[in-house]
Amino acid sequence: MGLGYTIFAKPFLAIQDSEKAHSRALKLLRLMVSNPITRGTVSLLYKPSKQVPITKFGLDFNNPFGIAAGMDKRAEALRGWEALGLGFMEIGGITMLEQLGNPKPRMFRAGKSKALVNRMGFNNPGSEKIALQLNKHFSKHGQPRIPLWINLGKSKLTELEDAPTDYATTMQRLWKYADAFVINVSSPNTPNLRELQNDEELKKIIDSCKAVNNTESESQGISLKPILVKISPDVDDNQLSAIVNTARSNGCSGIIASNTTTSRPSENSGKEQKVFAQTGGMSGLPIQTSTTEMISKIYKMTDGEFPIVGVGGIMSGEDAWQKICAGASLLQAYSGFVFEGAALTKQVVNGIEKKMRQNGYSTLDQAIGSAHRDD
Ligand SMILES: Cc1cc2nc3c(=O)[nH]c(=O)nc-3n(C[C@H](O)[C@H](O)[C@H](O)COP(=O)(O)O)c2cc1C
Repeated sequence: MGLGYTIFAKPFLAIQDSEKAHSRALKLLRLMVSNPITRGTVSLLYKPSKQVPITKFGLDFNNPFGIAAGMDKRAEALRGWEALGLGFMEIGGITMLEQLGNPKPRMFRAGKSKALVNRMGFNNPGSEKIALQLNKHFSKHGQPRIPLWINLGKSKLTELEDAPTDYATTMQRLWKYADAFVINVSSPNTPNLRELQNDEELKKIIDSCKAVNNTESESQGISLKPILVKISPDVDDNQLSAIVNTARSNGCSGIIASNTTTSRPSENSGKEQKVFAQTGGMSGLPIQTSTTEMISKIYKMTDGEFPIVGVGGIMSGEDAWQKICAGASLLQAYSGFVFEGAALTKQVVNGIEKKMRQNGYSTLDQAIGSAHRDD
């Protein structure tokens, strides 16, 4: 949807069904990057002119800005994300089993508030089909040029107590293709999924994913892949601290803060009320401040020693900078692309580079968490 925004006229987009517009935009991006000339044009128009390199979890990123999970659920536009100059891409959520997700419509846009409400429900082709597709992609185009992360969700049909096997099976099927994995226990759209954030449940999922990581790493002679946990913004401070501790003490590499929220803005225009009345998770501008505060809290509770991926309402370079200063090492966006278009990457990356220069930082690492220090 967001990419289409820059390509189609705004009024045209405004009357399109949100999910259809999104799918058309992905198809268009895919088409454009399939030809070297149009691929070059996409890069020329949208690729940031600056690089803001950073190394985290042993992975090198040209810049810290990636697409958030949900944007490319079917891994359809991998070369498109590279061409747009993103620092990394997270595909999925992918579940062990193929599933249709919730009935449509299930994605809603509140333009004035720059917010989305979605209840997609992990619609995806399932881990087996995604493995085949990635295999095809890798054979044809080789390894992606930017780190590829895979978001793991739980199949709706799988009982909560069998969740560890569900996550681990997807991870095993996709292990060789990913540079990192994200355990998503925070989507509001799969019944009871968020219960898996509880200490014991989360530990079991992490353990089963770690077991796959160890086995695959040994058998393929490749180093272990980072595993991160993505959390909900709807947890209180005690729950937040418990989840972060569980992830950290059980060997995860970092935290993604955060997923969508079930809360709604306290004020909104009458027209948007219809969108906010929809069941589902809200993303975009209304969660910008709360997710930055969450990053700050995690940074403080871990003394800045546990990498945080900041996501929630990034619409500009300034918003991205706030999250870096609060303690995020890497950043992601979904809604920002919908409302600001494909030029968001350029705005964010060039914006961060400018802020670094203004503040006298020569590396991004110096800026991370700077709001907590008197530098
Ligand atoms: C339509 C849609 C689908 C999403 N699907 C997933 C998903 O499958 N897995 C996940 O972890 N997050 C998913 N998310 C959440 C985003 O990755 C992100 O955490 C959230 O939207 C906040 O970022 P934003 O304000 O930049 O959109 C989805 C978000 C949207 C809007």
